[in-house]
Amino acid sequence: MFTEENLNELRITLEGKMSPKRYRHTLEVENMVARLGELYAPDKLPILRAAALLHDITKEYSADHQLMLCAEKGLEVSRGDLYAPKTFHARTAAAMIPEWYEAFAEEEVLSCVRWHTTGRADMTLCEQLVYLADYIDLSRTFEDCVMLREFFFEKKPEEMDRQERLAHLRDTLILSFDMTILALAEDGLPISPDTFEARNQLVCQRLAEQKA
Ligand SMILES: [Fe+2]
Ligand SMILES: [Fe+2]
Repeated sequence: MFTEENLNELRITLEGKMSPKRYRHTLEVENMVARLGELYAPDKLPILRAAALLHDITKEYSADHQLMLCAEKGLEVSRGDLYAPKTFHARTAAAMIPEWYEAFAEEEVLSCVRWHTTGRADMTLCEQLVYLADYIDLSRTFEDCVMLREFFFEKKPEEMDRQERLAHLRDTLILSFDMTILALAEDGLPISPDTFEARNQLVCQRLAEQKA
């Protein structure tokens, strides 16, 4: 397991490799995931912080560069991916961590990075927290992000018991997937099947609970 010192070194390295805007976003995602981690998974804070710091390490690469990395690492590229190159970076970042930042190449870190853009069915709690932190971090000013941040915090999850808090996380995630799907459809862009699966699974879970 990596240490706080490793995380500090990572922050310094990343500052030299990203634009100031991306770096600020990265640190804000780390802050947000630490806040969420305190509420949901305090034992996973180092994993969550590392994943947040590493989640966008390839985001500023061109589509061609992303494709090159996919080819280099033997990553499959679907037709949907080609139309939505924004989702590439989650895959290329996860693939490059073992090579570039070996100390952090733990399975849980890699999966949080891998699924932070689209989500997927059966997301782990850590994956959910990193996904949400990336959506609502304080550097985000886009209307949907502000709305989701308010939706999450205004209900005071810190005052809920564990069960209510987990249901609130699920409802927040469903809302985020719905907003993502609607926004992509409105812009005439393809939607990842993983996002549909993530959304449907949580919706079915909620319906099953309401019936019980
Ligand atoms: Fe990202
Ligand atoms: Fe991000």
